Amino acid sequence: FSVENIRNFSIIAHVDHGKSTLADRLLELTGTIDKTKNNKQVLDKLQVERERGITVKAQTASLFYNWEGKQYLLNLIDTPGHVDFSYEVSRSLSACQGVLLVVDANEGIQAQTVANFFLAFEAQLSVIPVINKIDLKNADPESVEKQIEKVFDIPGDECIKISAKLGTNVERVLQAVIERIPPPKVHRINPLRALVFDSTFDQYRGVIANVALFDGVVSKGDKIVSAHTKKIHEVNEVGVLNPNEQPAHKLYAGQVGYLIAGMKDVTEAQIGDTLYLHKQPVEPLPGFKSAKPMVFAGMYPIDQSEYNNLKSAIEKLTINDSSVTVHRDSSLALGAGWRLGFLGLLHMEVFNQRLEQEYNASVILTTPTVPYKAVLSSAKLIKDYREKEITIINPAQFPEKSKVTEYLEPVVLGTIITPDEYTGKVMMLCQARRAVQKNMIFIDQNRVMLKYIFPLNEIVVDFYDSLKSLSSGYASFDYEDAGYQTAELVKMDILLNGNIVEELVTIVHKESASRGGTERGRQRIRSRLQALSCQPRAQCGAETCELQDHDLSQSWKLNRLRHPGAPRDKAHSVGKAICERLKDSLPRQLFEIAIQAAIGSKIIARETVKAYRKNVLAKCYGGDITRKMKLLKRQAEGKKKLRKVGNIEVPRDAFIKVLKTQ
Ligand code: GTP
Repeated sequence: FSVENIRNFSIIAHVDHGKSTLADRLLELTGTIDKTKNNKQVLDKLQVERERGITVKAQTASLFYNWEGKQYLLNLIDTPGHVDFSYEVSRSLSACQGVLLVVDANEGIQAQTVANFFLAFEAQLSVIPVINKIDLKNADPESVEKQIEKVFDIPGDECIKISAKLGTNVERVLQAVIERIPPPKVHRINPLRALVFDSTFDQYRGVIANVALFDGVVSKGDKIVSAHTKKIHEVNEVGVLNPNEQPAHKLYAGQVGYLIAGMKDVTEAQIGDTLYLHKQPVEPLPGFKSAKPMVFAGMYPIDQSEYNNLKSAIEKLTINDSSVTVHRDSSLALGAGWRLGFLGLLHMEVFNQRLEQEYNASVILTTPTVPYKAVLSSAKLIKDYREKEITIINPAQFPEKSKVTEYLEPVVLGTIITPDEYTGKVMMLCQARRAVQKNMIFIDQNRVMLKYIFPLNEIVVDFYDSLKSLSSGYASFDYEDAGYQTAELVKMDILLNGNIVEELVTIVHKESASRGGTERGRQRIRSRLQALSCQPRAQCGAETCELQDHDLSQSWKLNRLRHPGAPRDKAHSVGKAICERLKDSLPRQLFEIAIQAAIGSKIIARETVKAYRKNVLAKCYGGDITRKMKLLKRQAEGKKKLRKVGNIEVPRDAFIKVLKTQ
C-alpha cells in the first residue's frame, strides 16, 4: 500500500452513543466480516464487555475499501467511552490522524463527548462529527448539529447524519474518512521506528504488542530493540488485525498492526515504548504520560494458599491493562496482598471481574481511597520516607496532624451536562460535595454545561449515581485531573475494646466531621429547606423526602434537622455504619466488646457486643468421648482463622463482610 492510501482513525463518543455498532457496520461494509444478523459489537471481545455492554479495551481492525478506482487501507481503532477508560482513548489517538466523533441524535452532546473531543483536538487530529441514531422517533439531528457548532466550533454542514443500526449513510462515513483525514506522515526508507500503543498477553505466545509504524519496515526474523529496556528481541510474527490477528510478511510505515517478539512480562512490553532495529538506533517517539491512578484499594486472595496464582494473574492482566499500578502490601487480618491503583471505580470493578472470568481468581477488595498527600514537618518522618511530601495510598499510614504542615487532597475538573430543569438540584448536589463552580454555559435552549472543581474523594464512590437519580438519568458527568488542594483531613479509627483495627481506618474531611454548627449555619440550612419547599421534620408530613433519596445540599445536616435521631454528618454516618456491620459479624465472646469509631480522641459512634461463650458441647448429652473431642477439635481449628485485635478474636470473614459492603 502506498502511504497515500492509508488512513488511521479512531471512533470516539460518549457511552452508548453507538461507536461499537458503527464499527460493526464499517467492518461489514468493507467485507472484513460477513454481514449477518449476529454482528453485535464484534470488537468487544472480552466477556466483561459483552456482559456489561460496554467497551473497556480499545481494539484495532484493518479494513480494505475500494473507492473511485483505488484501494484504501483504513485502520480503525474502537475506543471505550466511559471516563475511567479515557486513558485507552488518549493512547489510541496517538496512532491516528483523525477521529469520528459520534453523537446520539436524541441525547445530543454529553460530558464524555466534550472530554473526548478535546483529547482529539489537543492531538491536532481531524474531527469528523457523526450524528447517529437518526432512526429514533425522538431524534433531533438539527439541534444536535447546532450544539456541535456552538460547543466545538465545527460548521454544521460537516456533520454526517447516520443510523448505525440500520446502516443508513454509513458509506458516506467511509468516504469522509478518505477525504477529510490525511494519510500518516511517515518515511519508509528511514530505519524502523514503531510505537507500542497497546499490548495484550497470550498464555502461549507471550506479549502481543500493537504497533503503529512511523518509519521503516519490520519483518519476521528482524532483531529489534526496545528503547526503554534496550533489550534485543527477535521478531517471531508480524501481522494486521482483521479484526483477528492475520500474519503478514512485513509491516510498513503508516500501518497499524501487531508484533510478537518473545517478550514475556510487563517490563519488556511497556506501552508508549519505541521499537527500532538492532544497530540502527533512532530518536524514540514521545510516548505517553503514564496513567495516574485515582483510587486505591487493597487486594487479597480469599485464601492465602492462592497467593501465587493471584500474583501471576495480576501480572498478566496488568500487561493487558497497564493503567493499573501494583504495590505489595500486607494486612494482619487478610495476609499478604497488594495495594492496587485504578483510574476509577468502574475500572476497579472491571479489573476484578476480569480476574475472576479470565483467570479464575477470587479476591477481597478493601474500601477504595483516593491518593492524599501530606507535607511532613517531622524530621524523623522525612528521614524515614526520604522525602518531604508523601502520597498516602493506604489510610492506615496516614501521618498524625502534629507531624504534618499540611494535608492535600486530589481535585478534578468535572463537566456536567444536564437538561436545564435539573440545574438547581445539580448545583446543590455539587455544593454538598464541596465543589467550586468554574463555569456555566447553555449549549442550546434547554441544556446546560456546568464546570466544577471537585475534591476527588467526594465523587469517587456515589456521585455519579446521585447525579443520575436526581436528573432522572439525563445528566452526564466526566472529569479530568486538576492537581491537589489543601484540605483539612482527619483519620477515623475503628476500635475494638480500645485497640485500633488497621484495616478499617478511613480518612474523612474535617468539615464533614464537625458537629453542631452555628445559628447562622442552621439558618442557612433552613432557608435551603424552604427553597426546596421542604420543612423540618416537625412540620414536614411527606412520607419520603427528596432529601433522603438524593444526596442534596449538606444532606446530613438537613436530615438531622428533619430527623433528630439521624447521624450528624458524613463522618458520623460512615462510622455508625461500620460499627453496626462489625457488630453483626463479630461472634460473642466471654467478655463484652465495645466497637467504637473515633476521630482523634473523640468517639463518634459506638456499638456493643454482649458477653457470651459458645458451648459447642451444649447439644451433646452424654454420648461418647470421641464425638466430644471431635467437636472441640473443630472449634480449635476454626480459631486458627481468627485474628486477634487486643484480646478479641475476630474471624477473617468478619473483616471481609465489613469491607465488602462499605
Ligand atoms: P460503549 O462501548 O459502552 O462506549 O458504547 P458504544 O458507544 O459502543 O455503543 P453501542 O454501539 O454499544 O450502542 C449502544 C446502544 O445503542 C445499543 O443498544 C445499540 O443497539 C444502540 N444503537 C447504536 N446505533 C444505533 C442507531 O443508529 N439507532 C438506534 N435506534 N440504536 C442504535
